[in-house]
Amino acid sequence: MKSKSFGMKKWLFLIGVFVAGGGIHAQTGHALWLGRRQAAAPVTIVCRRSSPTLVIAREELQRGWKGESGARVELVIKKDKLLKHDGFRLDGNTIEAGTDAGILYGVYALLRRQRTGESVTPGVCNPSYEVRMLDHWDNLNGTVERGYAGGSIFWRKNDPFTVTEADKTLWREYARANASIGINGAVLDNVNASPKILTPEYLARAKAIADVLRPYGIKAYLAVNFASPVLLGGLKTADPLDPGVMAWWAQRVKEIYASIPDLGGFLIKASSEGQPGPQQYGRSHADGANMLADVLKPFGGIVIWRAFVYAANDNDRAKQAYTEFMPLDGKFRDNVIIQVKNGPVDFQPREPFSPLFGAMKKTAVAPEFQVTQEYLGHSVYVVFLSTMWEECLRSDTYQQGPGSTVSRCTDGSIYPQKYTVIAGVANIGTDTNWCGNLFAQANWYAFGRLAWNDTLSSERIADEWLKQTFSLGDHLAPVRQLMLESREAAVNFMMPLGLHHIMSANGHYGPGPWWAPPKVRPDWTPRYYHQASVTGIGFDRTRAGSDAVDQYHEPLASEFNDVATCPCNYLLWFHNLSWDYKLKDGQTLWDALCHHWDKGVRQVRAFQQTWDEAQPVVDSARFTAVQLKLREECANAILWKDACILYFQQFSRMPIPGDIDRPVHELNDIIAHEFDHRIP
Ligand code: GCU
Repeated sequence: MKSKSFGMKKWLFLIGVFVAGGGIHAQTGHALWLGRRQAAAPVTIVCRRSSPTLVIAREELQRGWKGESGARVELVIKKDKLLKHDGFRLDGNTIEAGTDAGILYGVYALLRRQRTGESVTPGVCNPSYEVRMLDHWDNLNGTVERGYAGGSIFWRKNDPFTVTEADKTLWREYARANASIGINGAVLDNVNASPKILTPEYLARAKAIADVLRPYGIKAYLAVNFASPVLLGGLKTADPLDPGVMAWWAQRVKEIYASIPDLGGFLIKASSEGQPGPQQYGRSHADGANMLADVLKPFGGIVIWRAFVYAANDNDRAKQAYTEFMPLDGKFRDNVIIQVKNGPVDFQPREPFSPLFGAMKKTAVAPEFQVTQEYLGHSVYVVFLSTMWEECLRSDTYQQGPGSTVSRCTDGSIYPQKYTVIAGVANIGTDTNWCGNLFAQANWYAFGRLAWNDTLSSERIADEWLKQTFSLGDHLAPVRQLMLESREAAVNFMMPLGLHHIMSANGHYGPGPWWAPPKVRPDWTPRYYHQASVTGIGFDRTRAGSDAVDQYHEPLASEFNDVATCPCNYLLWFHNLSWDYKLKDGQTLWDALCHHWDKGVRQVRAFQQTWDEAQPVVDSARFTAVQLKLREECANAILWKDACILYFQQFSRMPIPGDIDRPVHELNDIIAHEFDHRIP
């Protein structure tokens, strides 16, 4: 009897999935977490004002209402001291906000609660950061730097200046998805910026994009090339202190604001990786940033100046951004924000937080996360990045004693900043499912949600995303667990215990700890970072080594410096240790490394099983797409494990622990065929 009723329930559940979840038939994933259009319950909307944004708010309620049929929803614009920026107050079916965008965010929050089954607790919901932006590394020729999901949604090679209805539809869908998670800024072009972005043709297209984004509360920003006055304007110099240069920028900015009056501002990568910048004229980052800030100020624009700088010198690369920027603290205008990558090197699978967080006290600092998976398996691996960002945001910098987390040091809680900004390097392209991998959509989603509320847990974010994207029933918990473990699994099979930057030069996908061709800058080769030899492995950043530890506040500096207190996760980041060094659990370093590489593979195998078990409740198109990704990830995880064990064993000269699966590849084959492992 019991089993019969259980069976009946299961059937009812499956029918429910079919009806509510859009059916177990082909889905492309294009609808993202917002789901496909379905019949909504009737709802009456009361709102005294109208604007393009409020029209969207109404439409969204009508299109997605899952609350009580015939309910009345009130949208009220009013000033309220408790509301910050575009924050809103939700009380039953009433949404109050000080701005139209705030109303729209309130509407999306209400609808999200209906879709996820979360009850509405009355209260105020303010964003953690004022500017929550996606940086698109989109080139004007339609390609995307480190993009793994097709071409650019903004630019294209053929017929680049015609704006079609299809373009506008795509931009609108993009804007809607962003607004639904609170993203309110988009940098339309790559940080390795082409000066052409400032030509009338490209600006006209930027204007067309900005016009579509605007009603969704999203401002456009432009990445500009610091040498534009020379490259475009024919000036002899781009020296920021040259009055002619400033006048040139002032004229360009005036023209831009005439067509995009709400442009957010400029993003600049300067004096970094070959990009031009103020240093070539003997000027500082502050000189460069301030000149542009002064020009943008009358229009309310901001300058987001990146701190991703390192030179090919003998200084530890991990120290260089801090060394260059710390002396400039207090020298930047109040509309300059220094954008800092989460870690001191470059978006590695795991890095400690950048010491620039919690360092400068008189300069606005913004975290930059990489949503696109440059070092985390491109669009192949299923890696939920929320846990990585949460780890960074919650790291304690001790800037003002305990509790000075990275989030509190950047969201204005500890030091007031005129602007607070958080940026994510987008993973979006023209692929039907936007991100190349369905689960990569969860990273776009998570970035927006954390930017809005930097205290949210990854568990909650994964839960929300899954509930809105699939109808998994009993499979929700295991798939959520898969997501929560996925980043640690990738760290395990790639770069455990603080190893970093040991990937292949082949697009930063797959293993390559051996890669060191002559004439390549040492700090672009893995050997610079792993320092493996017969005596040991790891980068010595202690006081006896590069002393990077002293860029952190106490007690962290001493904690990182002492191998006995350094967290295991960062061991080889800060220390060079002998292969037979005994870890706290009694294992030798070599055995521990092997066990991590092996564990990562086992974890991905388990993810495959978890996903296969969910097959009955996932439509076949999306099920198969993810299944294939996991299969490919597993093959690559095995390659990582074999490559690392066999390569580093040449130095450790120690046996592979008996309890792990033996390698199935030959090291020489992996090295010889490195480029055959190129992903499609
Ligand atoms: C990484 C990445 C580059 C990018 C750079 C940046 O080095 O590989 O493609 O341009 O970061 O953040 O500027």
